[in-house]
Amino acid sequence: MMTQLTAAPEEAAAWLKRGEAVAFPTETVYGLGASVWSLAGLERIYEAKGRPADNPLIVHVSSRAQAAEVGAPNAMAEVLMEHFFPGPLTVVLTRRPVVPSRVTAGLDTVGVRMPAHATAQAFLQACDAPVAAPSANRSGRPSPTTWQAVLEDLNGRIACILEGEPSTVGLESTVVDCVHDPPLLLRPGAVSLEALQAVCPTLSVASATHFSARRSPGTRHRHYAPRARVVLVASPAQVPGGRAHAFIGLAPAPDILGYQQVVSDLAEYAQHLFAFFRACDAAGIDTIFCQTVSAG
Ligand code: TXA
Ligand code: MG
Repeated sequence: MMTQLTAAPEEAAAWLKRGEAVAFPTETVYGLGASVWSLAGLERIYEAKGRPADNPLIVHVSSRAQAAEVGAPNAMAEVLMEHFFPGPLTVVLTRRPVVPSRVTAGLDTVGVRMPAHATAQAFLQACDAPVAAPSANRSGRPSPTTWQAVLEDLNGRIACILEGEPSTVGLESTVVDCVHDPPLLLRPGAVSLEALQAVCPTLSVASATHFSARRSPGTRHRHYAPRARVVLVASPAQVPGGRAHAFIGLAPAPDILGYQQVVSDLAEYAQHLFAFFRACDAAGIDTIFCQTVSAG
C-alpha cells in the first residue's frame, strides 16, 4: 500500500470515508483514525498498529452533540466536558448500543475526546462521523508527535497521513472514568490530577484492584517505550559518560558523549520527550537517562 501524505483535511477525510485508516495531528499526539461506523476501517487500525484486540479505542468528536451520539454522559461527565472540552481529556461514558464493540473492546463504556486543534477539528468535521483513534504508532513504540514519526512507524501500512505541525502538548490525554462514582483517573496525561480535582473534588486515582477488574484493559499494556533502556536520575551529574548514553533534563549532563537535550520546564519536557526517545532509537543509543522533575 502507498501511504499518501496530504495537508488537506478534506482529502484525508475522503480516505476515511472509503473505509481506510488515516493518521491525523492533535494537540497531544498524532492519532490513527477510522470511522466508528466502518468495521473495515477499525480492522485496519488494529492491523496497522499490531494492537492487542483487548485495548479499547478513544472516539474523537467535533462537538458535544457528537459525543452524546456514542456515549451517555451523566452529570459528572457533563461538568468535566464543560471545563475540559475541547482539550486533552478523555471521558469514559456509558456506551450507546450503536457503537461497535470493536471500538470499545467489548466494554459497556466508551472513551470520548474532543481535540483542541484546528487541523484535527477541520478533519473531524470533514469526516462527518465520530472517529475512533489510538495513537498513530506501532504498538509498544512511543506515541508520535510529528507526521515524520508516523511515517517512520506506519509507512506502507496505512492509506494516508494528514500532515500538521508537531503536537504542542506531547503527552497523551488524561483518561477519566466518569461512569464510576466517584470518577476515577485511569491514565495520567496532559490534564493534571490537581486541575481535575479543582472541578471535581471527589475524583481519585484508580487503584490496582480497579484495573484487575478489567475496566481499563489498555492500561495493562506497555506504553511510551523506546527500544533503549530508560533510567531516571535526580541530577545531570549522575549520568555516566558513554557514547551510547543519552540524557534529557533541565541542565546539561557534563560527562555525556552521546545525545542530550536540555529543556526549560515541565511543559517543554512533555512536548519533546517522545520525539527525543525516537531520535535516541534512531541514533542507536542504548540507555536514556531522564532527569526527574517535581511538578509545581
Ligand atoms: O491523547 C490521546 O489520548 C491520543 C490522541 C490520538 O487522542 N490517543 C491515545 O489513544 O492515546 P491510545 O489508544 O494510545 O490510548 C487509549 C487509552 C488506553 O489506555 C485505553 O485503555 C483507554 O484509553 N480507554 C479507551 N477507551 C476506554 C474505556 N471505554 N474504558 C477505559 N479505558 C479506555
Ligand atoms: Mg498509544
